[in-house]
Parts: sequence; C-alpha cells; structure tokens
Amino acid sequence: MKKILITGALGQIGSELVTKLRALYGNNNVIATDIRRNESAAVLSGPFEILDVVDGDSMLKLAKKYEVDTIMHLAAMLSAVAEKKPLAAWNLNMGGLVNALEVSKELGLKLFTPSSIGAFGPSTPKDQTPQVTIQRPTSMYGVNKVAGELLCDYYFNKFGVDTRSVRFPGLISYVAPPGGGTTDYAVEIYYSAIEKGYYSSFIDKGTYMDMMYMPDALEAVVQLMEADPAKLKNRNAYNITAMSFDPEEIGNEIRKHIPKFKLEYTVDPGRQAIADSWPNSIDPSAAQRDWGFTAKYDLKKMTTDMLEKISRKVQV
Ligand code: SER
Repeated sequence: MKKILITGALGQIGSELVTKLRALYGNNNVIATDIRRNESAAVLSGPFEILDVVDGDSMLKLAKKYEVDTIMHLAAMLSAVAEKKPLAAWNLNMGGLVNALEVSKELGLKLFTPSSIGAFGPSTPKDQTPQVTIQRPTSMYGVNKVAGELLCDYYFNKFGVDTRSVRFPGLISYVAPPGGGTTDYAVEIYYSAIEKGYYSSFIDKGTYMDMMYMPDALEAVVQLMEADPAKLKNRNAYNITAMSFDPEEIGNEIRKHIPKFKLEYTVDPGRQAIADSWPNSIDPSAAQRDWGFTAKYDLKKMTTDMLEKISRKVQV
C-alpha cells in the first residue's frame, strides 16, 4: 500500500482511519473522499475530494488522478437506517461496492471493504459463530453484506482483484459518531453516562453482541492490508472481534468509574429485532491464524479509555 483512496472518509471508521493511514503512509498518499465536506482532520490534513460512490465514473477519475494502488471503500448505510430505507440502502451499499470493485479491476488495485456481524442471521449458530457457516440474514443491511462478501469472492476468483475484508463487530469510538447502527447504544451509553449520569438503552438487557474498540479496528485494517496475500484463505471477509457483552455488563463496567450511573431501558423493537438476529459472539480464530490479528482492548480497558477521552472532549 503506497497510495490509498478512502470513500466514506468522514464516517465513524473513516474519520480515524484517515488520520492513522496519513501518519503511516504520508499525508499526501491518503486521499479522503466523502459525499460531504466538514472542517475535520480528514478534510484539512491532506487531499480531500467530494465523491458520491454511486457515481462510478467519478470514482475511476479520482483513482486515476491520484494514481492510487488501493481503495478502502467505507461509504455505506448502517443497519438501523437501512431497515427504514431498504431500497436506498441497496442502491448505496451495493452500487458503491460494485463501483469500487470495477475500478479496482480496471486499474489493478487492492480493495478493502468492511463486512459485518450483520452478515449473519437467525439460523446462524449464535455462539462462537464459525468463519464459514450459514449466512441468511434478515435485515437489508445483512443482505447487502452477504451479497458484498460474495462479490468480493467473485472479483477475486474471476478477475484476480486483491479483495480483503473483515466482518466488523460493533465499533466503539469517541471521535466520530456511528451513523444509525444497531450497536450504537454501546457508544451512546458512554456519552450519556458522563453528560447525564444515566442512559436509556434501546437494546434490551441480555442481548449479547460482539464489539471492538476503534484502535483495534484500525489496526486490523492495516494488518490485513499488509498481510501476505498467499496466506489469505478468505477473500470474502474474516470474522474479527474483541469482546462480547450485553447492556448490563457495559453498565456495570461504567459504574466502576461512575458509581451512581443509572441504566434504564426503552427498547426499540426495530433495532432489537436486528440485534436478536445477530450472533452473541463470533469465532475470530481464522484471522488469528492467517494474518495474526488479536485485539488489545477488552471491556475494562476500553471503558477506562472511553470515559477519560469523552470527559476531556465534553469539557472543552
Ligand atoms: N455496527 C453496525 C450496525 O450496527 C454493524 O455492522 O449497523
């Protein structure tokens, strides 16, 4: 990886990935793109271009203009919003990915795009979900992710595109907010704990989902992209995870720092149904075996860091 084009650069992952990649590969070698512009580091610290990912011609032009060797395609609609606007989700999530695959094919680029725990469904084994297993998701987001995984396999096998992907669990960070996902409660809870001393969770107690702290997620992307291609047996996506908890467990962990923290529930049936259809915990051993990934943050370490960083952010 020498020159990278990132789509969805102002989203939850992109905002931090751009900064990390610019530190590693040089500011001018990471071209951030998004459908909107703001005053964040991703826009101000290096090349930035407006790009709507459903416009394949513009994506191709930008990839040529900057002579990139890699695309990191992050632009997508998350699960809860996708469920409200399924057709728009299909058009954006699939249209964007197909364009990224086509540009990669035409220019011989390496491609990273995230899959998700959302690629599993109610008939998938719920605990220690294997790398290769039943994938019959019931959400539009999940349908997009499975189709995306199959497309990555297809472009790798048929055209030799160097496709690489992970099934991200819920990602937790204090920098940019997630955009309408089912796992967002695990980000909101920290802000609410600090700002109000209580949180009303839209996901019910007893609902376990995989999660990961953003520094681990970013490290996973870099490690996977730098991994020896000969070792990568899965070109659709690798299971990765750092922890699995339910709202009560994260609430208890927060209480160790904020003893009066109160956790209540106002369950949102839509997002609860999506969460219920996802695994409780996935098995990340294939990622460990093939490219050596192990997450560093557990719930305790992440909670300490999140509360410290958000407290600082909220004060200024
Ligand atoms: N965090 C995502 C969501 O909840 C899962 O990929 O939609």
